[in-house]
Amino acid sequence: MNIFITGANGYIGGTVAQRLLADGHQIRGLVRRPDLAEQLAASGITPVLGTLDDGDLLAREAQQADAVINAASSDHRAGITALLAALQGSGKTLIHTSGSSVIGDDVRGDVLSPNIFDEDTPLIVEDKKQARHALDNAILAASDNGVRGIVLCNTMIYGSGRGLHRDSVQIPPLLQEAQARGAVHVVGQGINRWSNVHIDDVAELYALALKDAPAGAFYFVENGEASYAEIGQAIANRLGQGPVQSWTVEEASAVWGEGHARYSFGSNSRVRAKRARAELGWAPRHDSVTRWIETEMPLD
Ligand SMILES: NC(=O)c1ccc[n+]([C@@H]2O[C@H](COP(=O)([O-])OP(=O)(O)OC[C@H]3O[C@@H](n4cnc5c(N)ncnc54)[C@H](OP(=O)(O)O)[C@@H]3O)[C@@H](O)[C@H]2O)c1
Repeated sequence: MNIFITGANGYIGGTVAQRLLADGHQIRGLVRRPDLAEQLAASGITPVLGTLDDGDLLAREAQQADAVINAASSDHRAGITALLAALQGSGKTLIHTSGSSVIGDDVRGDVLSPNIFDEDTPLIVEDKKQARHALDNAILAASDNGVRGIVLCNTMIYGSGRGLHRDSVQIPPLLQEAQARGAVHVVGQGINRWSNVHIDDVAELYALALKDAPAGAFYFVENGEASYAEIGQAIANRLGQGPVQSWTVEEASAVWGEGHARYSFGSNSRVRAKRARAELGWAPRHDSVTRWIETEMPLD
């Protein structure tokens, strides 16, 4: 299959692209920087220089491809709108990368939420996440317009990426701050919990969804969960540091930005990936983020 992937040099997109290359697919990948385009080409991906704001380019690539995977952004409405318009009536696949901060709450690290969502549970979506939720729904509804729209809603992804970006967006920043400050910092008490999943299991699910997911399917992507206090303590153990320290959400916002501090580091995002297991036979192989941190996480 000829597959067009946005975010092809990124953590998720790069790993998914390598997984699909291994299956024998041809990959064209959107990339913003010419130097990274050269590195992509060296890894077997045909680079397409441009951005999610280049609607005409996205339309051309989508129409030439057999399937499209957006792994550049969970929130870029203009890019998704251009891809959906180009694919209308074609019956082709658009897999969209969403993220489970869509059901993140605003507890600032101090509450363990009892709410656990699966694909049959009505979602509770904060105001700041309504735009992401609406975009997910637009992709699911595209099956009415002849597009096989599929949404993969990823949780906290860990593990080393296999493309040009090795690091994910949650645990590596905690590690870097711990290395710089001599202690791990979490928001509030860090009793808030996030579901998580290893990047290799994520890539496997993209491959399965490409083959077998029905039009209009939404899947959570999860295989375990941990609190930020547990994750922080695993990082401290790995670095030989003392107890995890607390930041207010304002202190964390000054370091990571308000969106990340509140809806990633300070929130609960607890889900169960029921549908991918039942419908696609997805069988994730990695189940412990804290073991990965203590034994495998790169420290450089
Ligand atoms: N990693 C996780 O745990 C996780 C979990 C759930 C959801 N997500 C979401 O999934 C998406 C991808 O995450 P990631 O971890 O793979 O991030 P990443 O490593 O930063 O990759 C994103 C890629 O998309 C490219 N990109 C971003 N905006 C673009 C634009 N406007 N036009 C063209 N290219 C663009 C980036 O290019 P440059 O290299 O030029 O910046 C990068 O190659 C994000 O929206 C993220 O919030 C991530």
